Amino acid sequence: MPMEPKDWIDVTTEKNHYSLDHFVIPKHYEQDVSSILIPHGVIMDRIQKLARLIVDDTTGPLVVCCILKGGHQYFADLVNYIKALTKSNGQSVPLSLEFIRVKSYKNDKSEGVTVSLSEEECKDFAGKNLLIVEDIIDTGKTMVKLLQKLDTYKPKSVRVTSLLVKKTPRSNGYIPDYVGFAIPDAFVVGYALDYNEYFRDLDHICVISVSSISLL
Ligand code: IMP
Ligand code: MG
Repeated sequence: MPMEPKDWIDVTTEKNHYSLDHFVIPKHYEQDVSSILIPHGVIMDRIQKLARLIVDDTTGPLVVCCILKGGHQYFADLVNYIKALTKSNGQSVPLSLEFIRVKSYKNDKSEGVTVSLSEEECKDFAGKNLLIVEDIIDTGKTMVKLLQKLDTYKPKSVRVTSLLVKKTPRSNGYIPDYVGFAIPDAFVVGYALDYNEYFRDLDHICVISVSSISLL
């Protein structure tokens, strides 16, 4: 069953912010984070459900593609849940794992992405069922361009899961197949999402005010 926006957890309203006093966060980030948007435990519980939806929809082997760097934590936890489900409910989804760094480019002729895989590695996608695992969809531009590029290698199917989707007027309308949370139009960090490589080592997802970061 395809997911619809009504199936996402909406954490866009202010009441969803948790006080730092109620959770443990690394001391080196206490000055830069004012509240927690999604506690680590809730992230994990949500991923368990996304893993269930993905397994229920999957019939053949999956090539699970991690979009580095921000997607690595979600990818690792999602793969673990998919493996656990495979054991407990009798369904069995063979997984292979791929890791891709994606860079956007724009020149005077076209816009696109380069991926960190060789042409040979990309050609291996032909006829396979791909599951792309991304941390966050903001404008949607990166994902749309990545999907256009992957399509040229003729995979059998491509599904996308993003832990977060930002509710922003800058969106190009792209919606992934499996989404964890809809978040406000703000800059979020933690759970492998970074700001200039900081905050990847924070377990909870938090909103930061980029102008007042003391670490930089
Ligand atoms: P898009 O092309 O605008 O959808 O941007 C996608 C990429 O931008 C994501 O994969 C992230 O790497 C990065 N990004 C966008 N918003 C945030 C944010 O709030 N925190 C951290 N990274 C972000
Ligand atoms: Mg990303």
